[in-house]
Amino acid sequence: MTPVRPQQNTRGDTELPAALRDALARMGLVAPDESVRGTALEGGVSSDIWRVDLCSGPVCVKRALPKLKVDAEWRAPVERNRYEVAWLRAAEAIVPGAAPTVLGEDPASYAFVMACLEPGLYPLWKTQLLGGKVSADFARQVGDVVGRIHAASADRDDFAAAFRSDENFYAIRLEPYLIAAARNQPDVGDVLEALAKTTASVRRVLVHGDVSPKNILAGPCGPVFLDAECAWFGDPAFDLAFCLNHLLLKGIVVPLARDDLKRAFEALRAAYLSVVDWEPADELEARTARLLPGLTLARVDGKSPVEYLQSESDRSLVRAVAKALLARPKETLTQVSEFWWTALAS
Ligand SMILES: Nc1ncnc2c1ncn2[C@@H]1O[C@H](COP(=O)(O)OP(=O)(O)O)[C@@H](O)[C@H]1O
Ligand SMILES: [Mg+2]
Repeated sequence: MTPVRPQQNTRGDTELPAALRDALARMGLVAPDESVRGTALEGGVSSDIWRVDLCSGPVCVKRALPKLKVDAEWRAPVERNRYEVAWLRAAEAIVPGAAPTVLGEDPASYAFVMACLEPGLYPLWKTQLLGGKVSADFARQVGDVVGRIHAASADRDDFAAAFRSDENFYAIRLEPYLIAAARNQPDVGDVLEALAKTTASVRRVLVHGDVSPKNILAGPCGPVFLDAECAWFGDPAFDLAFCLNHLLLKGIVVPLARDDLKRAFEALRAAYLSVVDWEPADELEARTARLLPGLTLARVDGKSPVEYLQSESDRSLVRAVAKALLARPKETLTQVSEFWWTALAS
């Protein structure tokens, strides 16, 4: 490894934790024992993530935590960091620009470094949605990019071998969402457990696993996907349902944007389904339509409730509508959407 010149890194609020500084040194990005300052980034619950301004430009260094920063006891294998790096690289190769470039990896500390995208140019999609700025065209691009990553990886043995992360996916997705919600809502427990079982049994495409607006930057050339710790070779319905769920839930807290959210939902759905070529699109849509209300309920009664549903009346409304959909599943996502928006309006 070529010796690194000390950076005189003085920007940033705080001294970088030693473990992260050592990881940067092992990756050859700073000199050993160099003091490095950085700024902790907020928003995540599962990792330590810092911005560091190197002479070569700003980078983000991210390290997986063994226990997540949520109220419920939720531990996750730190090996997930490896799957995140592999997903970011794969996505960038399939759709250039769809993920930040990975600049280094330190398997010893479960840390990696990626290009840091400037918040001014790359705002968080979640911030836009909660502010009532809902672009159907951006939602269309999200559906298109997720669909293209699924299509390019579908039924490929190399992806199946590289993302054999079933245990990780169960520990950080299926258990804390569907199984935890099943424990809290026993009247629909069987349905939720069956949904988890079906999802776990489908192994078709490279799934991101956390396609949430808080992990999507609205860049000038389209969406940039972050936070791929849940990456898994599995059921495409999970990514589609997970993302559409957020558009439904935002309608509770941003009522003035309901028509725009409905249009965005439809744009994302249509763009995604138009690139499905590995299985009949109507079968995938029906599977997603059954899973979606399970994930909706999980965002109230699972281990990672959305923080913006504060009032008990909002949570009761979500529970009632999700349970009605679980009891009488719809065949299409448009029917789920119609049912949801009609129930919210009444
Ligand atoms: N490469 C990046 N460029 C700019 N901001 C980033 C980058 N990676 C993460 N962030 C910011 O940090 C937040 C947390 O990062 P994320 O990877 O989602 O961590 P966690 O797994 O803890 O949720 C993101 O929501 C985003 O605002
Ligand atoms: Mg995140």
